[in-house]
Amino acid sequence: MARVIRFRNQLTAMYLFKKIADLRHHLERINRAGKTIGFVPTMGALHEGHASLVRQSAEETSCTVCSIFVNPTQFNEATDLVKYPKTPEKDIALLLDAGCSVLFIPDVAEVYPDGQRSALHLDFGYLDQPMEGAYRPGHFVGVAQVVKRLLDIVQPDQLFMGQKDFQQFAIVQHMVTKLALSVNLRMCPTVRETDGLAMSSRNMRLTPAQRALAPLIYQTLSQAKANMHDQWPDALKSAAMKALSVPGMEPEYFEIVDSRTLQPITIFEDHDMVVACTAVRVGEVRLIDNLILKTM
Ligand code: PAF
Repeated sequence: MARVIRFRNQLTAMYLFKKIADLRHHLERINRAGKTIGFVPTMGALHEGHASLVRQSAEETSCTVCSIFVNPTQFNEATDLVKYPKTPEKDIALLLDAGCSVLFIPDVAEVYPDGQRSALHLDFGYLDQPMEGAYRPGHFVGVAQVVKRLLDIVQPDQLFMGQKDFQQFAIVQHMVTKLALSVNLRMCPTVRETDGLAMSSRNMRLTPAQRALAPLIYQTLSQAKANMHDQWPDALKSAAMKALSVPGMEPEYFEIVDSRTLQPITIFEDHDMVVACTAVRVGEVRLIDNLILKTM
């Protein structure tokens, strides 16, 4: 059954559901009242980046649903799944503060009653091949599987996702279009620490020395943007890979791609929107980030 969590001042309330049937019962009442539903899927360990998605949803829809579900099918490294941080009390406080109306925390059997093998067979073309797709085989099949399942459960009008996972956004956008899902997908800007490091649940796994090194990722992306009018994309990429190859840090890729196709570009002028995407290993922690270099 539902559990209602309330702020001490009794002004803000958020419903917590663990079972789909209870959640659906509640959301059907919201639908019948003609209210709009915004949805923010997460894996917990929430930070200001997630809060910004919730705030945007709360501003633009009448009922914001947030899910916390550490999806086992999108982890290609078992240790990553085991080590995925869990901060439930902090998450609840952050969600209440950001204006979330409904929190959905299902267990694995609730999300995957028929087992974890994906029944969703979508062809992503090139979108799931490069970058994260190359380094994390099967990752996007798991992401698409869980997002589709959660969309079927929540049935939101609007889906809010972060720019930080740029390739994930492209995959979900492709799925929404291909399956003609009746949801409006919204991209929200990356939220950064004051030194530029993109907020991520993984940042809390960095040692103080690694944390001090990590802003180099954003600095390198910014440097590529500063130099884009004087250098070819290939030269920017080589310079970035070199800049990120410092002791304690190992870049996996730095790609300058068309934002729609994710194909590497050779000439900026041929593309309306271009984004630089990178993944870097800082010790055991793998961080990703991106920066839009060019928009229409
Ligand atoms: O970005 C994430 O946290 C996850 O990939 C998502 C979209 C919640 C699916 O598990």
